[in-house]
Amino acid sequence: MYVLGIETSCDETAASVVGPDGVISDVIHTQEVHVEYGGVVPELAGRAHAEQVVATVRAALDRAGIDKPDGVAATAGPGLMGAVLVGLCFGKAAAAGWGVPFIGVNHLEGHLLSALLEDPAPTFPFLALVVSGGHTTLYLARALGEYEVLGQTVDDAAGEAYDKVARMMGLGYPGGPFVDKLAQSGNPAAIPFPRTAIQAGSRTRGSKRVRTDLDMSFSGLKTAVRTHLERADGWSGPDVAASFQEAVTDVLCDRVMKAARRHGIDQIALAGGVAANSRLRERVAALPLQAFIPPRRRCTDNGSMIANVGRLRLATGQRDPLDMGARANWTPGT
Ligand code: KG4
Ligand code: ZN
Repeated sequence: MYVLGIETSCDETAASVVGPDGVISDVIHTQEVHVEYGGVVPELAGRAHAEQVVATVRAALDRAGIDKPDGVAATAGPGLMGAVLVGLCFGKAAAAGWGVPFIGVNHLEGHLLSALLEDPAPTFPFLALVVSGGHTTLYLARALGEYEVLGQTVDDAAGEAYDKVARMMGLGYPGGPFVDKLAQSGNPAAIPFPRTAIQAGSRTRGSKRVRTDLDMSFSGLKTAVRTHLERADGWSGPDVAASFQEAVTDVLCDRVMKAARRHGIDQIALAGGVAANSRLRERVAALPLQAFIPPRRRCTDNGSMIANVGRLRLATGQRDPLDMGARANWTPGT
């Protein structure tokens, strides 16, 4: 079975064909239009997806050497609604035109199952740490469609912290790759930035969810970096980048190890844009667990992670209706 996956939830227009043996084609078009604004502009993202989606899908099919897939999967949320709608509507229309089944995919489920595309792949149950620009969540993946949130950020996402720190330091956008590169010549122990612990049982204001000690917080760390940058006696870019990166990585690895011990799980899959980070990859690979870390290009947004969820759900006989709408807030597995 050949499944076409379409991803348009943020600033990547991406399409991929996944077959029985894995990824066959994987086309990613990153929108350049946002760079001058230092962040994604939703209206411009939707417009650019509309201009790019046909050529991207065409290229994915051509590179796979097929005219028509056996199923179509498209991101249905969460994400920027104007952006999600482009890929979702196009995917539904294409599935209807080809007369093949359609699956609307949760973007976060795409990330959290992306390690299943690789060889070797984890087997259920496994832990999945999804660290992206909008989310930082540690899941216990029990089976396809059964995910328990063990911990999540109570404020900024890790990728958001990378982007904000990069902006404070006058680096480019998106900030993660710039901080990653600069950190390579810095000392990770130079500045003792905070590793915020979360008190179990407390609540985020306005939320019903009770916090656990597997939750994370990155906003205090971001403020500590700002305070450091405002010092009168100057600062070293490489040391700030390396020390900040070490603090983020320490917090993420601490939560993974706590969860692994508590739930007796020894497999961890890493996913999301921040999973492309060199230090995080190195540190997770060195944990006393079996680590599944996809290649960098399949950590940031891509079409193959969407096609992957499509093929898994289609294989169990699932289908989504062609009147399926976009979902702005959507917890995987619900
Ligand atoms: O998953 P993703 O491509 O898009 C979202 O769904 O958010 O993640 C994008 C995030 C951005 O915040 C970006 O700065 C971060 O991933 N990122 C990195 C690296 N590459 C991308 N963060 C740290 N180190 C990297 N090498
Ligand atoms: Zn993403």
